[in-house]
Amino acid sequence: MDTHSPGHTAAPTAPLLDPFALAKALSGVHLIGGEYVPARSGRRFPVVNPATGIQVAEAAEGDAADVDAAVQNAARAQKDWAKLPARKRGALVYQCAALLKEHQEELSRLIALETGKALRTESRVEAGVVADIFEFFGGLGSELKGESVPFAPNVLSVTVREPLGVVGAIIPWNVPMLLMALKVAPALVAGNAVVVKSAEEAPLAVLRICELMNRILPPGVFNMLSGMGPECGAPLVEHPLVKKLTFTGSVETGKIVARAAAEKLIPVTLELGGKSPMIVFADCDFDKTVSGALTSMRFTRQGQSCTAASRIYVERPIFDRFVAAMTDAVNTMVMGDPLDEKTDIGTIVSEGQLEKVRGFIEEGTKTPGATAHVCSAMPTDPALKKGLFIQPVIFTGLTKDSRLVREEIFGPVTVIAPFDEPEAVLAEANDSEYGLAASLWTNNLKVGLDLAHRLEAGLVQINQNLVVQANLSYGGVKSSGLGKEASLEAMLEHFTHKKTIMVNMG
Ligand code: NAI
Ligand code: MG
Repeated sequence: MDTHSPGHTAAPTAPLLDPFALAKALSGVHLIGGEYVPARSGRRFPVVNPATGIQVAEAAEGDAADVDAAVQNAARAQKDWAKLPARKRGALVYQCAALLKEHQEELSRLIALETGKALRTESRVEAGVVADIFEFFGGLGSELKGESVPFAPNVLSVTVREPLGVVGAIIPWNVPMLLMALKVAPALVAGNAVVVKSAEEAPLAVLRICELMNRILPPGVFNMLSGMGPECGAPLVEHPLVKKLTFTGSVETGKIVARAAAEKLIPVTLELGGKSPMIVFADCDFDKTVSGALTSMRFTRQGQSCTAASRIYVERPIFDRFVAAMTDAVNTMVMGDPLDEKTDIGTIVSEGQLEKVRGFIEEGTKTPGATAHVCSAMPTDPALKKGLFIQPVIFTGLTKDSRLVREEIFGPVTVIAPFDEPEAVLAEANDSEYGLAASLWTNNLKVGLDLAHRLEAGLVQINQNLVVQANLSYGGVKSSGLGKEASLEAMLEHFTHKKTIMVNMG
C-alpha cells in the first residue's frame, strides 16, 4: 500500500480493478500539496452507488479552511512550476497521460460505480478520452509562443505568454474526468497551478486521477478538494489568490462564478449546458441518422450531457417513420447494472436529478396533444430495485412553448417535432436561450452548410454528432457559456496572458 499520509487510508499504487475496494481506499481525503489529507473539520459525506442506493465510500467535506490550505500550497508550487521550460511541463503532463492509460480500466470501473454510467458504452470511453486530452496538451508546451511586433525600426517589440497563477476549477458529475481534464491539462502546461473542486455526486475518480498525476508532477501544482457548492466551491472562487476561474455546470451556478470573477476582476471560462437541436432532412441517410440520433441524444449516458440532442426536428415526409424507427432502436438498448458488460444504459446520477427528470416527463405526459413513447425495459434484478433507473422517453406533439422544448432536462428525454421549410426550422432551432451545439443531417451540403453558418451554436456538425474532441475548440454562445476548451486556442486564450515587452535600441 502506498501511504502518502500516515494515519489515512490511501489507494494502492497498482491499478485496482475492484471499484468497491478502490472507492473505500479513496475515502475521506482531499489531495493537497501532494498529500492525502482529511477535511480540517473532520467532516465527510456519503458517496452512493446509484445502481443500488448503497453507500460505497465517504468523501472529505471541504470548507473554507481546506480551500485556503489548497490554494496556499498551489500558490507556492506555481512559482517553481512556471520556471520550468514549457516543453518540460508538457513532457510531464504527457507522462501523466501514459500513467492514466495504464489505469484506464480501473478509472472506468470507478466512474461507473460512482455515477451509474454504463462501463462498456460510456465509462471506458470517458477514461480513454481523458488520457487523450492530457496527451494532446502535453505536446503543446512549445506552442506557448509570443510574437515580434513591428513598431519602429530601433525598437524591439515582442510579446510573451505568462501563466495566470492559481486556477480554481469547479466541475460537474456527468463526465467529471473529461471535463476536469479539459481544464487541468491546458492550465498546467501553461504554467499555472490548479485547485479543483469536484462535484458532490462524483468525487472519487477525479481524486484518483489527481493522485496518479501527483506521482509525476511536483507537489502542489494539482490539488483536489471535495465538498458542497456553497461551502467549498464558493470559498474557492472567492479566494484572493485564485487568479482564474473555470467552471462547467448549470447556468445558475455559472452566474455565481462569473459574479465572483467580476468582483475580483479575474478571467473566467464557463461551459453551461444546452438544448441542442438536431435537424433531420428527408434526403438524409435514414439508418445512419436514426443511429446518429441515439448517439446524439447520449441515451447511453441517460441523456446527462450538455450537448444532448434534446430537440429533434424531422422533415415532415419522414417524420412518422423516423419516430417509429428511433423508438424501436432505443427499445433494443439494454438497461441494467452499470458494471455489467451487457448494459447499454445505466442509471441517473442522483435522486435529485431523478426527481427533476421525472417532473419533466410527468409534465410532458399531461400536456394535451402530446404523446410519450416510453422505451427500453427496466432491469429486473432485485439487487437493482433501488437503482435510479429511468426509461427513456421520446415525446411528440409538444409545442415550442413547452418547458420540455425550452429547458435543459439532463435526462433520457427528447422531443421530436416535424418541419416543412429550412427557414422555419432554423428559426425554431435558434429560438433558445442556449447555443452550445447543433447537428444537421442531410446529403444536400448546400442547404447543410448554409444552415451551419446561421445556427447560433458553438459547434455544428453535419452527419455526425461527436462528443468533445482534442484539438477542436469547444464552447457555447448565449447562455451556454463563455470561452473555449479542448484546443490550443483554449490554452493560449484562457490560461495565459500576453505581456508586451519593448526595448528601445536607439
Ligand atoms: P451545479 O451547476 O449546481 O453544479 C456544478 C458544480 O458547481 C458542482 O461541483 C457544485 O458543487 C458546484 N457549485 C454549486 N453551487 C456552487 C456555488 N455557489 N459556488 C461554487 N460552486 C458551486 O449543477 P447541478 O446542481 O449538479 O445540476 C443542476 C443542473 O445543471 C442539471 O440538471 C443540468 O441541467 C445542469 N448541468 C449542466 C452540466 C453541463 O455539463 N453543462 C453539468 C451538470 C449539470
Ligand atoms: Mg446545483
